[in-house]
Amino acid sequence: MCGIVGYIGKHEAAPVILEGLSKLEYRGYDSAGMAVFDGEKIQIQKSVGRLKVLEELTHGGATMPGTVGIGHTRWATHGAPSDENAHPHYNQEETIAVVHNGIIENYLPLREKLISKGYQFVSDTDTEVLAHLIDYYYKGNPLEAITKVMHRVQGSYALGIIFAEYPDQIFAVRKDSPLIVGQNENGCFIASDVPAILKYTRKVYFIENQEVVRLRVDHMHFYTVDEEEIEKEPVTIDWDADAAEKGGYEHFMLKEMYEQPKTVTDTLMPRIKDNDIVIEELGMSDEEINAIRKIFIVACGSAYHTGVTAKYVIEGIARIPVEVDLASEFRYRNPILEEGTMVVVISQSGETADSLAALRESKKLGHKVLGIVNVVGSSIAREADNVMYTWAGPEIAVATTKAYSAQLIALYLLAMKFAKVRGNLDEGAFKSMLGDLKRLPGQIERLLANKQRIQRFANRYIGAKDVFFIGRGIDYAISMEGSLKLKEISYIHSEAYAAGELKHGTISLIEEGTLVAAVATQDTLFQKTLSNMVEVKARGAFVLAVTNEGNTDIEKAADYCIYIPRTNPYFTNSLAIIPLQLFGYYVAVGKGCDVDKPRNLAKSVTVE
Ligand code: G6P
Repeated sequence: MCGIVGYIGKHEAAPVILEGLSKLEYRGYDSAGMAVFDGEKIQIQKSVGRLKVLEELTHGGATMPGTVGIGHTRWATHGAPSDENAHPHYNQEETIAVVHNGIIENYLPLREKLISKGYQFVSDTDTEVLAHLIDYYYKGNPLEAITKVMHRVQGSYALGIIFAEYPDQIFAVRKDSPLIVGQNENGCFIASDVPAILKYTRKVYFIENQEVVRLRVDHMHFYTVDEEEIEKEPVTIDWDADAAEKGGYEHFMLKEMYEQPKTVTDTLMPRIKDNDIVIEELGMSDEEINAIRKIFIVACGSAYHTGVTAKYVIEGIARIPVEVDLASEFRYRNPILEEGTMVVVISQSGETADSLAALRESKKLGHKVLGIVNVVGSSIAREADNVMYTWAGPEIAVATTKAYSAQLIALYLLAMKFAKVRGNLDEGAFKSMLGDLKRLPGQIERLLANKQRIQRFANRYIGAKDVFFIGRGIDYAISMEGSLKLKEISYIHSEAYAAGELKHGTISLIEEGTLVAAVATQDTLFQKTLSNMVEVKARGAFVLAVTNEGNTDIEKAADYCIYIPRTNPYFTNSLAIIPLQLFGYYVAVGKGCDVDKPRNLAKSVTVE
């Protein structure tokens, strides 16, 4: 996600900002920029591409003199990566500059309103709305203007703001996007994350939601959104720089697992409006949705597993036939795409060679492609006819977790939208499902809080040779992802099996002590899966069960149980996957594996 750095002090600001931004590169970005007050006006330099481009453009900051400034590395959300869309953004008179990390959900109506008041926009970003809105409310008091904006905007934001009329100050605010401030004897700093300023200070303040900070050369003042001044205590950072990039987590994978409640919220909430699902980027009229006869979902790896889940959800509630295919198979098998077939390509990176080839193949056959993609401006995002972004932010660990969770949400939204438009979901059921969707982030948080129990269990299996994951229906799709998570990072052989298929082969592999993870979250299939658990237990298996809270019957057939909170049966994947991710992670940690960079695997598979 975007990175923010700001400095006000005794030294030149630009080199400090460039240095700080370089420490945030791990977050992923596609463009970078800086705004520095040069004694007369605010100067901005920005460019698409690596930070190196900005460094060259400004001769290492030398062409931007001044001791107060803000900088930004942008990870595109609204608007493709480009010079115009890079931050900082100005107001029209170029007297206010803003950098932003997050998503302004109501930016469209705000933009329209500002345009009607004569404001002109030069970018496609949601951030530019903030620059103009601050200008709109600014009557000489920056704090007042900023807090008014905070009352007006919805969504998530961390902001760094400078005003030409107040060159001795920087303002910083946050809501649901990270922001810290720090101080040393030479000045004050703002940053998205600790590593950006660790070279200068270890004394930092963590800004809480809806707090505002006014930074001067030698002191900082903190305020509430109602402009009341508050006291805050600094925290002394004792992690090393490497640990700091991971926000104190041992691995990126663990950090990303913990980001899932936010990822789910970010993918979900901007698309829920007035108790309805609005997917503007779908670009389909109700008539076109009604005309769909079949959906082809094409993807690789974990993205393919979300497609398998979606098949159950879309067929179940929208009653549209769905075929799910591995992109590497699809592209060479001369698929039959009849009229009325919609193709959906799912990809975190947007660069997976097979998925891209499948997209091109579909377009060649004359079919429109919807991309469900995480990386804005990636090849699949650019070539798909329409793109639904998952707002998971950059994912660094090779084994996907948060992007997978975001893909599930995008697919649930699609399924519900189609079901409603086609008249297969009545108002009551739709509302209740929306309520369940909104509860998912809190429920995921609860499951993550249980990590120690799963860690203890995982430690018992670091010597395992084979592990089997079984389930039926959506539980089978969950099993596939649970199995992949374990094998890719712990190097333990594991397989997912449709529980009903066990008797046709895999049961012969069960020996005394073999671990079988049974997923049983579907009430209608519960008794069937229970029988399969009894069968493997009778042959010596140790059975780990993942089921819904209240299904205590399972304890008859399981040796160890993990309960997930109740949700709509179509959404259980979002919850059941959490303990399975944690299980895979802790087995790998216990074995001493390189969790974030497993052997032979790549994050983005750009070759066949
Ligand atoms: C690699 C990654 C997986 C990912 C798969 C598909 O194998 O390690 O985590 O699921 O590629 O990648 P995509 O970027 O298309 O989702």
